[in-house]
Amino acid sequence: MAILVTGGAGYIGSHTVVMLLEAGYEVVALDNLCNSHPEVFNRIETITGKRPAFVEGDIRDRTCLDKLFADYTIESVIHFAGLKAVGESSRIPLEYYQNNVHGSVVLCEAMAAAGVKKLVFSSSATVYGEDAPVPYVETMPRGKTSNPYGSSKAMVEQMLTDLCISDEGWSVGLLRYFNPIGAHPSGLIGEDPQGIPNNLMPFISQVAVGKRDQLSIFGSDYDTEDGTCVRDYLHVMDLAEGHLKALSCLVQPGTHIYNLGTGNGLSVLEMVKSFTSVTGVAVPYQFAPRRDGDLPAFWADANKVGKELDWQTQYSLEDMMRDTWNWQSKNPEGFR
Ligand code: NAD
Ligand code: WQD
Repeated sequence: MAILVTGGAGYIGSHTVVMLLEAGYEVVALDNLCNSHPEVFNRIETITGKRPAFVEGDIRDRTCLDKLFADYTIESVIHFAGLKAVGESSRIPLEYYQNNVHGSVVLCEAMAAAGVKKLVFSSSATVYGEDAPVPYVETMPRGKTSNPYGSSKAMVEQMLTDLCISDEGWSVGLLRYFNPIGAHPSGLIGEDPQGIPNNLMPFISQVAVGKRDQLSIFGSDYDTEDGTCVRDYLHVMDLAEGHLKALSCLVQPGTHIYNLGTGNGLSVLEMVKSFTSVTGVAVPYQFAPRRDGDLPAFWADANKVGKELDWQTQYSLEDMMRDTWNWQSKNPEGFR
C-alpha cells in the first residue's frame, strides 16, 4: 500500500516525501514538473537512501490517473499539486481555476473510481479571508478571499466538504498552512522559485547570495509594532510532519480542518534582522509602497492541531534562517 503525493516534486511535497519514506511508507509522486525539477528525486534518494516511484503527469489527466491507480495500490492521497502565485492568479485566473479546482475534481473522480477515499489537501490561511479577526481559529467560517488563488483554495475546501457529506466513505484533511519557509537541514532540497520570487524568504536569501540587489519591504506604515506586516512563519519540516500526523485522522469519516502554524506572528523587519543575526550576512533593504492585497497581520491559533494530532512545531526561527541559508548558499541556482 502506498501514499500518492501529487505535486511531490515541489517545495512542500518533496519535504513530505522525505518524511514519508523515512517513516517507512511506500510513496508514489505524481507531478507535471511545471514548477519543479526531477533532480529533486536524486536528492531525496541521497537523503533517505530510497527513491519514490515517480509518475510524470497531470492531475487533470484522467487517463494518467486511472493508469496510476491501476499500477499501484494507493491507500491515501496527499494533494499538493497546483499553482500558487497570488499575483499571477489575478492575471490568469482561468489557469488557476483549471489547475487547482478542475484538477482537484478530476483527482477525486479518479480516486472514487479506484475506491480510494482518503485525502489530505493543501489549503491555506488565505481562506479565512480579508476580515477575519486574529488569531485565525478553525471554527471561523471561510471569509471573502481577495484573489483567484485564494478563491480556488476555498472552492476546493467546499467541494471536498460536499463530497464528504454525500458519501461517508470519504475522509479528508483540510490543512491550512500559514507561511512555510526553511529547507531540509541537509541543504539538499529546498524552495526553488522560478524568476523573481514572490515570497519574502526566498527574496531575502537571493539578496543575501547576491542574485538581487536589495529587498523591497512592502509597507512600513501598517498598524503593527514596527509598521511592517506580521505573519506566522513555520519550518517546512514541521509542516511536512503535519501531513504525516494528518494521515492518522483519516480513519474518521468527514472533513478534518487544521491550522498548521506556530501560533506566533513575526514582522518583516524581524525576519530580516533574524536572518542577518543567524547567518552573519547583511540584507540591504528599502521601504516600498504597500503590496496590493496584503493584510497587516495574521497568525494561527494552533491549539486544535496540538490537542487532536499532537503536532507542535519543533524548529525555531533560528533553524528556519539557518536552513534557508544552507540551502540557498549551497544551491544558488536551485536544482538547475
Ligand atoms: P510548488 O509549486 O513548489 O509545488 C507544487 C507542485 O505541483 C510543483 O512541483 C508543480 O510542478 C506541481 N503541479 C502544479 N500543477 C500540477 C498539475 N496540474 N498536475 C501535476 N502537478 C502539478 O508549491 P508548494 O509551495 O510546494 O505548495 C504545495 C501546495 O501547498 C500548493 O497547493 C499550494 O497552493 C499550497 N500552499 C502553499 C503555501 C506556500 O507558501 N508555499 C502556502 C499555503 C498553501
Ligand atoms: C510575507 C510578507 C509581504 C516579499 C502568500 C500567500 C499565501 C501563501 C503564502 C500560498 C508580506 C512581505 C514579501 C517581498 C516584502 N501562499 N514581502 N517584500 O503574502 O503572507 O502569503 O504566501 O499558498 O496564500 O498569500 O507571504 O512571503 O509573499 O509575504 O516585504 O519582496 O513579506 O508584503 O507582508 P504572504 P509572502
